[in-house]
Amino acid sequence: MNPSGPLRDGETVIFIDRKEREYLRRLAGGKEIKIRDGKLAADEVIGRDEGTLVRSSLSDTFLVFRPTLAQLIPNLPRQAQVIYPKDIGSIPVWADIQPGLAVVESGVGAGALTVALLRALGPSGRLVSYELREDFARMAKENVARYYGAAENWTLNLGNVAEALAESEVDRIILDLPEPWQVTEKSWAALRPGGILLSYLPTVIQVKTLVDSIRAHGGFAAVETFETLFRYWHIKEMSMRPQHRMVAHTGFITVARRLAGR
Ligand SMILES: C[S@@+](CC[C@H](N)C(=O)[O-])C[C@H]1O[C@@H](n2cnc3c(N)ncnc32)[C@H](O)[C@@H]1O
Repeated sequence: MNPSGPLRDGETVIFIDRKEREYLRRLAGGKEIKIRDGKLAADEVIGRDEGTLVRSSLSDTFLVFRPTLAQLIPNLPRQAQVIYPKDIGSIPVWADIQPGLAVVESGVGAGALTVALLRALGPSGRLVSYELREDFARMAKENVARYYGAAENWTLNLGNVAEALAESEVDRIILDLPEPWQVTEKSWAALRPGGILLSYLPTVIQVKTLVDSIRAHGGFAAVETFETLFRYWHIKEMSMRPQHRMVAHTGFITVARRLAGR
C-alpha cells in the first residue's frame, strides 16, 4: 500500500494534539470520532489532505496524518508483546531483507514485524509465518489486512514452528519467540547456504542458550548479538537535552549465517 492524496473513508489516521500526544482513529463516514472528551465528525476529515488542522467539539486542535509504521506499532490492537519500532527498524537491515527474498517468520503475535517484513519484501518477496496461538493469528490477520492491505505473498500457518517448519531453500528466518534454540536444527535445514537466521530475545539467559545451541550445531558462522539504545531529545529554544525518560531495555538481536555444510 502506498496511500497518498486526500484522506479516505475507512482509513486509519493519527491525530496529534498541541502537546504532541497521539490518537490513532479510523475514519468511518457518517460517524463521530471521540478524542479525550471531545468529538469531531469523520466527514470533516475525509477528503482533507494530511497535515490539516482540525478542531473538536471542545475547540481542541489536532493535526491529522496517516500514521507511520513507528506510530502504528505502539497502537496496534494486540494481546502479545510487540517488538518496539527501534528494533523493527534494525531487523530488516541486519537480516538483509530485500525485495524478492523468501522469508520465514515466527511467532507472529500482533503482526507488527509481519507488516514491516511485507513492506521490505515487496510484492515479489514471499513471507511464510508460523504462530502457535489461533487468537493471535486471527488478530495478526486483521492487523495485516487493515494496516498493510491484501498480501497474496503471505502465508500464515498455525502451529509450533519447531515441529511444523517445512520450508527449504529460504533466504531468511526471523524468530521472535521465547525458545528459538528449539528451532536451530530446523532453521539450518530450511535455510539455503549463506541464508541468515535472526532472533529477537528479551533476556541474556535466552541469548546465551541460543548462541550455545547455534555454536554446538556447527552449521552456522558469523554469530553476532547486539542491542540498540534509543533516546529522544527535547529541543525547544535554548533547552536542548536528552528526554528524562527512555525505554532502557527491549531486547537483543542475534544473527548468524548458514554454512554450506557442517
Ligand atoms: C513476542 S510475540 C511476537 C510479536 C511479533 N513479532 C510482533 O511483531 O508483534 C511471540 C509470539 O510467538 C508465539 N510463539 C511462541 N512460541 C512459538 C512457537 N514455538 N511456534 C510458533 N509461535 C510461537 C507466541 O504465541 C506469540 O504470539
